[in-house]
Amino acid sequence: MMFFCSTFLVVFMMNFLRDFRVSSCDATCADKPVFTPSRLVVKFGDPTAASCSVCERCIDNIFNLESPVGLTSINGTTMFWTIERLTEWLTSPICYYNTDTDVQCCTILPITVYQPPDNVSVSFVDHTGPMFEGKQYTLQCTVEEVAPVENLTVTFYRGQTALGQLQSKNNNPKPVTETFSLNITLSKEDNGVQYWCEAKLELGPYGPQLPPVETSQTITATVFYKPQLEGSLHPEPITVLEGEPLQLNCSALGNPGPSYTWTLPSGSPSTSSSSVLIINSATFADEGKYTCSVSNDVGTATVELNVEVRAANNKGILIGVVTAALIAILILLIGLFYCYKSK
Ligand SMILES: *[C@@H]1O[C@H](CO)[C@@H](O)[C@H](O)[C@H]1NC(C)=O
Ligand SMILES: *[C@@H]1O[C@H](CO)[C@@H](O)[C@H](O)[C@H]1NC(C)=O
Ligand SMILES: *[C@@H]1O[C@H](CO)[C@@H](O)[C@H](O)[C@H]1NC(C)=O
Ligand SMILES: *[C@@H]1O[C@H](CO)[C@@H](O)[C@H](O)[C@H]1NC(C)=O
Ligand SMILES: *[C@@H]1O[C@H](CO)[C@@H](O)[C@H](O)[C@H]1NC(C)=O
Repeated sequence: MMFFCSTFLVVFMMNFLRDFRVSSCDATCADKPVFTPSRLVVKFGDPTAASCSVCERCIDNIFNLESPVGLTSINGTTMFWTIERLTEWLTSPICYYNTDTDVQCCTILPITVYQPPDNVSVSFVDHTGPMFEGKQYTLQCTVEEVAPVENLTVTFYRGQTALGQLQSKNNNPKPVTETFSLNITLSKEDNGVQYWCEAKLELGPYGPQLPPVETSQTITATVFYKPQLEGSLHPEPITVLEGEPLQLNCSALGNPGPSYTWTLPSGSPSTSSSSVLIINSATFADEGKYTCSVSNDVGTATVELNVEVRAANNKGILIGVVTAALIAILILLIGLFYCYKSK
């Protein structure tokens, strides 16, 4: 079974390699030729090199290193393969020797040829202009001309937070352009937030020390949402002393910025279109229920505020003090009068 699989694999790989004289290749034999390094990860168009050694005693047998591209040379039982510009997407040099039973014992040098993407871009699918809270949108990251796409990891970001990672199911070794999608549901907190994506080629220990990474541009989400009251509401009812100023606040956040309409206790609308209704000096006529209606294109929020006006106690105290003073003076005068009379 093992033998069958290996043979199958080799035959499979051979299909890619035209021009080969290696006829029957046994990849399971003992004393296999050894490539150094055992695999290569090369950027498309870069130079590369590897060597292959066959066992010392094989010197008397036929052995060779074959590759459709590049140059080969031999020194003793070691063979060298070099190429100045690797511009083949599929190339796997084969190193072999003929065994005494005339079977070829061979090793294939696996080569991963990579190419960082030409361009990485992010967008919201089928969408321009403002979006709405609570609705689902599809973020899309397009990675152009990347190879091998099976070693590509795409990460979507919201600000500095990673939202999700995606990988391709495609195993084409040649450059491909692929689009990755992520569904997101927007909330009001997403208004003004930047979205972007990152394409990273993870090529493993034989690859470059720093994996090639390309980032997209950023796109800013504009999220429309209905007005939401800022801060907490006043305890009800709101009490104010007669003659004192009254301020009612129904500030709300919304996108687009909301407009305010106030309805007075009389039921008539106020001329104020501000978030804060100001009455400079409260009278008993200002008592009752106020309604603040905050609205924008998306929706309306309504707040009711009950106001109670109380008589100002200050006057009563003042009258009391004045009365007490007058009585004291009167008692003093009466006292003085009797004193004077008794003399
Ligand atoms: C071949 O290898 C031997 C031993 O490693 C070395 O001394 C010699 O210089 C090499 N010859 C060439 C042509 O590289
Ligand atoms: C990358 O792709 C985007 C979207 O197609 C395009 O607007 C941009 O110009 C491209 N950038 C480069 C450098 O090709
Ligand atoms: C995103 O949502 C749409 C519509 O609900 C669905 O058809 C699609 O499969 C989803 N895509 C992903 C990547 O989850
Ligand atoms: C590249 O991707 C393939 C398939 O996912 C995987 O088997 C291989 O280990 C990856 N290579 C590296 C160097 O990570
Ligand atoms: C109204 O309330 C908001 C939210 O609590 C606050 O930021 C704002 O300063 C208040 N305005 C006034 C005039 O008190």
